[in-house]
Amino acid sequence: MPGTLIVNARLVNEGREFDGDLRFANGRITHVGGQLSAQPGDQVIEAGGRLLLPGMIDDQVHFREPGLTHKGDIASESAAAAAGGLTTFMDMPNTTPPTLDADALEAKYRSAAGRAWSNFGFYLGASNDNLEAVRTLDPKTSPGIKVFMGASTGNMLVDNPDTLDAIFREAPTPIITHCEDTPTIDANLALFKVKYGEDIPVECHPDIRSREACIKSTRLALSLARKHDTRLHVLHISTADELALFQAGPLVRSDGVRKRITAETCVHFLRFDRSDYGRLGNLIKCNPAIKDASDREALIRALADNVIDVLATDHAPHTLEEKSRPYSQAPSGLPLVQYALVAALELVHEKKSTVAQIVNKFAHAPAQLFDVKERGYLREGYWADLVLVENEPFTVRREDVLSKCGWSPFEGTTFQSRVGATWVNGRMVWNGEHLMGTPNGQRLEFDR
Ligand code: DOR
Repeated sequence: MPGTLIVNARLVNEGREFDGDLRFANGRITHVGGQLSAQPGDQVIEAGGRLLLPGMIDDQVHFREPGLTHKGDIASESAAAAAGGLTTFMDMPNTTPPTLDADALEAKYRSAAGRAWSNFGFYLGASNDNLEAVRTLDPKTSPGIKVFMGASTGNMLVDNPDTLDAIFREAPTPIITHCEDTPTIDANLALFKVKYGEDIPVECHPDIRSREACIKSTRLALSLARKHDTRLHVLHISTADELALFQAGPLVRSDGVRKRITAETCVHFLRFDRSDYGRLGNLIKCNPAIKDASDREALIRALADNVIDVLATDHAPHTLEEKSRPYSQAPSGLPLVQYALVAALELVHEKKSTVAQIVNKFAHAPAQLFDVKERGYLREGYWADLVLVENEPFTVRREDVLSKCGWSPFEGTTFQSRVGATWVNGRMVWNGEHLMGTPNGQRLEFDR
């Protein structure tokens, strides 16, 4: 079967960086190695020393379908993801209606089929009253169960202590949590309203959605997970303080024991801090809030120290019209998928990380943590989800944004790397300039 041979690449995989070739055919990687020979009929691509990485796996996106499709939809946002080198996404349940049972979950998979440019998985959401759906979730159908332990976009707060306890006790998949204590936030907001009325400056966002709110809720999640030995993944860690609550170390120890409790941070916490609110205002308003420069530096170090296990985006598009409302009415969240990988690679150019580390946190770790079958690595037999990255500076322009909302918090930013090509299941879907062919994303399978 003729395939594609990529020659003279700088491959990055499983902690190693090496010069070599990679061949794939029929959607799967057939050889990873030094110098490989083309088989009859193979297309040969000269990589010219550019980086060849496994496609990134984003374990936290909000693609807004169903019900919020004026902000984004599976086709538009997965196109942006593919252009950014993100070949797999796991989508959140805070849609309209929310994804609260197996039927809603399957409806999402049906809707993504043939329209998603990247591979897809959908989370089941927990609520105060869908324990039966949580308990009976087939672990092969979803990466995990999302629990909003703090209120955010959508009305999915789980604040009934008995229900929370039961979810942690009975979940048949990893639980992933949004941790921010809502009563703390409400009390802070009330104080700021007294001071500013309806005209609260967006600079106050990290003081309203405060570090104390994050710490309190993360502590609760950890205590419930320890009580029930739950597999817990705490999303979007935004403070230095919370880092002390997690254990450093690899996802899988040398004796094969897996971490039961893991932590994620997001690209925007590594690229922005409090000083950026003046320039970007509500565009970088998100939950949890972007906090101080010292938090940002601590999070970058925590990636290197293996306290943070996973890097993701929390891609959450809203329209410019929505974002231009006053602080208290502007929704939280920002579009990120298209420039997330190149934004993360800035850390490499700044000598704060390595490409191998980014690949580990943004491809290997989510694959491992969610038991994703045959993706996330450059391995023979695995799906050919690949991204070619070149070290060629470019400046983000609004007209290049593929997300439906049509803006990026990185407009005007010059990145030192760009995505030269993306393959999903062995088909080139992004050639560095535009999308190619038709959507080729597949439903994820979970090896559990
Ligand atoms: O900023 C956020 N936006 N945080 C969330 O938890 C939800 C997300 C959204 O869906 O808009």
